Amino acid sequence: MRVSRLLQRASIPKRYEHCTLESYEASFPGADRSLGGAHLMARRFADGYPATTAGRGLLLTGSIGVGKTHLAVGILQALIVEKSVHGLFCDYRELLKEIQHSYNPQVATTEMEILRPVFDAEVLVLDELGAAKPTDWVWDTVALVLNTRYNDKRTTIITTNYADLPPGGTGNGSNGVSRAVREETLGDRIGERMRSRLAEMCVVVEMRGEDFRRNVARARFG
Ligand SMILES: Nc1ncnc2c1ncn2[C@@H]1O[C@H](COP(=O)(O)OP(=O)(O)OP(=O)(O)O)[C@@H](O)[C@H]1O
Ligand SMILES: [Mg+2]
Repeated sequence: MRVSRLLQRASIPKRYEHCTLESYEASFPGADRSLGGAHLMARRFADGYPATTAGRGLLLTGSIGVGKTHLAVGILQALIVEKSVHGLFCDYRELLKEIQHSYNPQVATTEMEILRPVFDAEVLVLDELGAAKPTDWVWDTVALVLNTRYNDKRTTIITTNYADLPPGGTGNGSNGVSRAVREETLGDRIGERMRSRLAEMCVVVEMRGEDFRRNVARARFG
């Protein structure tokens, strides 16, 4: 399949089309060092895929606007352009909706065919894992998708706003000062079982820093 067709099929939202590994900046004034590390990991990942990645994906964590989706989409575009990978971008909340719609009340079963592209994509970007809390049976289907992909050695690249920590919140701040608001963790959002499964499936990449949209871009354009 031609690259333009593969890009089309990947369903990358318009607002992320500009996100490539080349357009990602890692050394603007005030940039956290973790961003350079994440960028390098992303480049290495795309270069090494599939031999050195061996079915393992990435779990990009960090606060709002640090560039998680940019890097995930950047890797996806690089893999499509450079390696003709069959990739797919999938927003977590959209996936939950799709799963809900896949339920056929007439026969009281889930039509898995609707979810076929998410199961089958060679590389899946799952954006904003944990952003919503689904009902039990919807969550079971999400777990089935992730487990099946893992068992089939298909690569999943995940972004999340939640810290990769067990349930129970982030507790105290790093310098021992209690946080005013207890922040939820990935463990709180998806359960400890899935979190430990993700640890097998993905290499965790922690991104720290300011909201690029608010601070960096604004400072630049006044
Ligand atoms: N290091 C960077 N270099 C260039 N553009 C960046 C960088 N970081 C973020 N951006 C841009 O800033 C915007 C926000 O980034 P992005 O959507 O990737 O953040 P995010 O971490 O996914 O945020 P959210 O938690 O809200 O999903 C995007 O338009 C992205 O292209
Ligand atoms: Mg994002």
